[in-house]
Amino acid sequence: MRVRTSGDVVDMRALWWEDEAVKAIDQRALPHDFEIATIRTHTEMAEAISNMTIRGAPSIGAAGAYGMALAWRNEINLEDAAQTLRATRPTAYDLFHAIDLMSSEDGDLRRPADRYADSVVSRCERIGTNGSELIEDDMKILTHCNAGALATVDFGTALAPIRVAHRAGRRVFVFVDETRPRLQGAKLTAWELANEGIEYAVIADNAAGHYLRDEVDMVIVGADRIAANGDFANKIGTYEKAVVAGENGVPFYVAAPLSTFDPALPSGEGIVIEQRSPDEVLFIDEVRVAAGGSNALNPAFDVTPSKFVTGFITEQGIFRADNLKNFLEDARV
Ligand code: MRU
Repeated sequence: MRVRTSGDVVDMRALWWEDEAVKAIDQRALPHDFEIATIRTHTEMAEAISNMTIRGAPSIGAAGAYGMALAWRNEINLEDAAQTLRATRPTAYDLFHAIDLMSSEDGDLRRPADRYADSVVSRCERIGTNGSELIEDDMKILTHCNAGALATVDFGTALAPIRVAHRAGRRVFVFVDETRPRLQGAKLTAWELANEGIEYAVIADNAAGHYLRDEVDMVIVGADRIAANGDFANKIGTYEKAVVAGENGVPFYVAAPLSTFDPALPSGEGIVIEQRSPDEVLFIDEVRVAAGGSNALNPAFDVTPSKFVTGFITEQGIFRADNLKNFLEDARV
């Protein structure tokens, strides 16, 4: 991804292996500060995933793979390391997929982990190429949360088709849901689009319905886990955007690599929803916004039924939910 730091423009990934450690852009510090975290052990990696230094399903998958590589280098029992890493965040399927893949390898896991991260990026580039065919000049697209390069090692899922269309010279405008409680839209998606020179406006989550009535041409979101019937989990608030898009006849696409599909799960009912600290709702950047003594509920994701999905944009093409079963069998996910 293109990053502007103190006047320089550099091209970098969200996380990578360097000098016997994993380096990662600390996503908690953006957009105000640009900091690189150094992660030396699988337990530090587990902490970085839990506290959202590294976040977004495909980035979490790569973090899991690198966490296993760190455990191998530090001579830790790999089953124990896998258990620690799996216990960090329950919803994003990529984490479990990546750890299973690393567990099936023999020997030093550094190169397999690098290959895993590379494969995430190349899948996202293909998602970008496939999805960009849906984007015409002057389109207005709404997205929720951050499904960009930060969330996917590089390039993005929901943002990938927008990136490709923009680079091809098409004019695109992005409505960026701010995405309370952690504000991944306002903080991270806006930062990525600004770095790339793509036109956008941050909107309050509550404003999405207003714009979906007559301004938004298309919605593209990412996913954390997609069940075999096409029901999917994504950042809290996605479900209501899908319903309002459906009510207004706005096409609603989910962009995700095959590593996010959980074919063993028949429907969205079985998806475990992560519950995070009430403080993420009660406070914004350490400033208390709720009345003293308030409690809060903080589900990190919701499940959107497949009937609201126009299509899944994957590295292998664009598929309708009712054709997903054949697609998953052909793709041997
Ligand atoms: O809690 P987060 O920030 O990890 O949630 C991220 C999302 O919900 C993204 O939309 C999803 O992981 C897709 S990222 C390509």
